[in-house]
Amino acid sequence: MTANNSASAIAHPNIAFIKYWGNRDEALRIPSNGSISMNLDGLETRTTVEFNPSLSKDALFLNGKKSGVLATERVTALLDRVRSLASITTRARVTSENNFPTGSGIASSASAFAALAIAASAAAGLELDESALSRLARTGSGSASRSVPAGFVEWLPGKSDANSYALSIAPPNHWDLLDLIVIVSQGHKKTGSTGGHRLASTSPLQTARISAAPARLEECRRALLARDFSALAHIVELDSNIMHAVMMTSTPPLFYWKPATLAVIERVTALRAAGLDVCYTIDAGPNVHVITTGASAKRARRELLQVSGVIEVLTARPGGPARIAP
Ligand code: PMV
Repeated sequence: MTANNSASAIAHPNIAFIKYWGNRDEALRIPSNGSISMNLDGLETRTTVEFNPSLSKDALFLNGKKSGVLATERVTALLDRVRSLASITTRARVTSENNFPTGSGIASSASAFAALAIAASAAAGLELDESALSRLARTGSGSASRSVPAGFVEWLPGKSDANSYALSIAPPNHWDLLDLIVIVSQGHKKTGSTGGHRLASTSPLQTARISAAPARLEECRRALLARDFSALAHIVELDSNIMHAVMMTSTPPLFYWKPATLAVIERVTALRAAGLDVCYTIDAGPNVHVITTGASAKRARRELLQVSGVIEVLTARPGGPARIAP
């Protein structure tokens, strides 16, 4: 490669309805169980990759600031896979921007590594299909595999690099669902998901979580395809609670919830009892994703803003696929 070769891509974060927690292969991020998610429209990462022969090492700029060694190494690992596929050795300059505030409690690794996989492979002249892009994104962050396809997405766990990738199970317009992202803390979490996955197997509950995952995936897929909100609410909350039970019973234990997290859970439970379409799900942090429908969203948002400890509520509809940006 002699000339500069660059490409840009855009990807959305996603919220898991059935969670990924724990790897069967840590290096390749082959998960212990399958997962199902919804891409989040309106929130996005935009990444440009420029392979430049004058660089002696990769450089990463996140939201205008040069990143440290650890973040850059994680990007280099994905770029190395791209270089190996394209038979090149050129180093790259990567610039990445999120349109949602860093520290707002929204995990950006899914959208970041999905956008990186697409921009880097295009900049290297590769033409990868969707499953190959999903596999590549997966090696940077497991949940990034689910930000590659559109709308409602299932990550087939597989047993090896070749068969662990995500695919769309319904397009964004399949169902008028919204994610109300209830921010109760803007601080950085102590244990990120990479460290958390490593601890999952120390919980005596992880084996039970994994063995019943196929049944929960089936129930979630059925509820989604049938647009059955009460069935979806049941399985989404159950799956989130099981994952947090594993987290809380790991050695050392991981408690991601704040008092306001529980206050939001209680409000969601009361609102559903009062007839609103709402359910909660929580990732590796204290903020609560309240899944709702177009008919219930306005009232749900108003009620959630009144819960003590709630800082703000962001709203996201089902999002499209990760894609090349102009
Ligand atoms: O992709 P990672 O390593 O950031 O893991 C994501 C873990 C959860 O957000 C807690 C669950 C999920 O499936 O997104």
